[in-house]
Amino acid sequence: MNKELIIVLDFGGQYNQLIARRVRECGVYAEIHPYTEDVDTIAALAPKGIIFTGGPNSVFDPKSPHYSREIFKLGIPILGICYGAQLMAYELDGEVATAPVSEYGHTQVKVDKRSVLFTDVEEETTAWMSHTDYIKRAPEGFKVTASTANCPVAAMEDSSRAFYAVQFHPEVRHTKEGMKILRHFVIDVCGCSGDWKMDDFIESTVRALREEIGSDGVVLGLSGGVDSSVAAALLSRAVGKQLTCVFVDQGLMRKDEGDEVEAAFKGLFDMNFVRVNCQEEFLTALKGVTDPEDKRHIIGSRFYEVFWDIVREKYSDGYFAQGTIYPDRIESGKGDAAKIKTHHNQVAMPGDITFKGVIEPLKDLFKDEVREVGEKLGLPHSLVWRQPFPGPGLGVRVIGEITAEKVKILQEADAVLRDEMKKCGYEEQMAQFFAVLPGVHTVGVMGDHRTYDELVAIRAVTTDDFMTAEWARIPYDILTRVSNRIINEVDHVNRVVYDITSKPPGTVEWE
Ligand code: XMP
Repeated sequence: MNKELIIVLDFGGQYNQLIARRVRECGVYAEIHPYTEDVDTIAALAPKGIIFTGGPNSVFDPKSPHYSREIFKLGIPILGICYGAQLMAYELDGEVATAPVSEYGHTQVKVDKRSVLFTDVEEETTAWMSHTDYIKRAPEGFKVTASTANCPVAAMEDSSRAFYAVQFHPEVRHTKEGMKILRHFVIDVCGCSGDWKMDDFIESTVRALREEIGSDGVVLGLSGGVDSSVAAALLSRAVGKQLTCVFVDQGLMRKDEGDEVEAAFKGLFDMNFVRVNCQEEFLTALKGVTDPEDKRHIIGSRFYEVFWDIVREKYSDGYFAQGTIYPDRIESGKGDAAKIKTHHNQVAMPGDITFKGVIEPLKDLFKDEVREVGEKLGLPHSLVWRQPFPGPGLGVRVIGEITAEKVKILQEADAVLRDEMKKCGYEEQMAQFFAVLPGVHTVGVMGDHRTYDELVAIRAVTTDDFMTAEWARIPYDILTRVSNRIINEVDHVNRVVYDITSKPPGTVEWE
C-alpha cells in the first residue's frame, strides 16, 4: 500500500510514537515495530530506512534489548537515536561507557556541517539530551560529527554504509533543529520522496476496504467521538449503504449532541444510520445509584447490551468495524504491538456473535492524522475537533443520583458555557471544559425573593496528555458572563463556582 516505508524499531523509549509522527510529518510513512521482530521480517518489508529508538536501558545489561547484527548487513540506512545510537556503537565494536556526568535537558551541541544531517543546522545548536551512558569511541569507519561539553560523540556516521547516530533526541521540540535532521535522514540519506499524504491514505484505504468487504454488510458502533466518526465516514466513502452505524444515545450526552451526530451522518454520508434512544432505560438502571464506579459500570455494560442486542438481531452476518487508532494498539516499552491495552475503542465481543472479520480502518493513524482524514472527508469541524467526552457522559458530571431533571439542568448550563467559550475564542485553547452539577443547594436572592437552589461548577483545563492538567486561567470577565447567563437562563440554578484545582491532586472529572 505504501511504497516508501521507514521502520521505527522500538527499544522502549518514551518518545517512540513521536519519532514515527515526525517522520510522517516529512511526508514519509512510518511504522513502529518491536525490537523482538526478527531481521527477516523487517527485511521483507523493504523499508527505505530504519530508526533505532531510545530506551531506558544500558547496552551492558545482558537483559537490555539488543538486536541481531544482521540488520547492519541489509544495506538499509539506519539512524540510531540515544539508546539506539549507543546500541549501534556497541554492536559495531565501538566503545560505550557510563559517563562521568549524565546529560539531561537542553544542551548546546557543536555540529560538523559537512554531515548530510547537519548541512543547514547552526554550528552551535540546542538539543534535548537524556542519557547516562555515552559513546566513548565511535566504531571503525565512523566519523564523529557532533559533540557537547560532556559528550565527545554526540553524533557519528559512516556515510559509506549510511549508518548515522545521534545521542540527542531530534524528535522532541526542545531540539531546535530536530526536524531538519530527521528530514535529512529520511529524504537525503534514505532517498524517500516525501510525497506521502492523507489523500493517498484515504484513496488506498477506500480501495482496500472495498476489496475486503465485497458485497457484505459492515456494522459500526458510533459514539459521536472523533475516532468512530472518522471510521464511519471512511467506511461510508468505501461501501455506502452496506455500512450500518448504530448510535446508542443513552441520554447522557451534551445538549443537542445526539441530534447533531444524527444530522451530520444522515445528511452528509451515505449509510444506514440507526439511532437508539434509551435515556429512560438508562435512568431506570441508574435509579438510586450514587457511587461513581457503580455508575460507570452500569452505563458501560448497559451500553454494550443495547448495542449487541441490535447487532445480534439484524447485523451480525457481515463485518464488524471499530475506530481503533494507532496509539490504542501500541504498548510502548514492551515492543509488542500485538498486546492490546483495554480501551473504549476496542470492544469485547459476545461469544455468540461471529462476524466475518473485524475492520479497523484507522489502526495505523495518530490522532491528529485521524482528524485530518475527518476534515478531508467532510465531517463537521465540531465533530472532528470534539473535546474528549467520557464514555459515561454526563452520568459522571451529575454527582450522586442521576435524574432526568438534573441531566437537563446540567445540559442547559453546559450549553451556555460552550456558547460563551466559542464566542470569545477560548474554545480552542482549552483541552476540556464543562459544567458539573454537584447536587448542592445554596441560598440566594433573586429580586426580593429568597432562593434555595442548585449550584453549578465550571471546570476547564489545559493539558497535553490528560495525565496532568492545569486549571485554565479564563479571564474574569468571561467567567462573569458565563455565571450571569447560567443563573439567568437556566432554571433552578442560583450560584456558579469555578474549579481551581489542578491534576494532581484533582482529576479532570469530578467523579
Ligand atoms: P480524569 O478525570 O481521570 O480524566 O482526570 C482524564 C480524561 O479521561 C476522561 N475520562 C473518561 N473517559 N470513560 C472515558 O471514556 C471514563 O469513565 C472517563 N473518566 C474520565 C476525562 O474526561 C478526561 O478527558
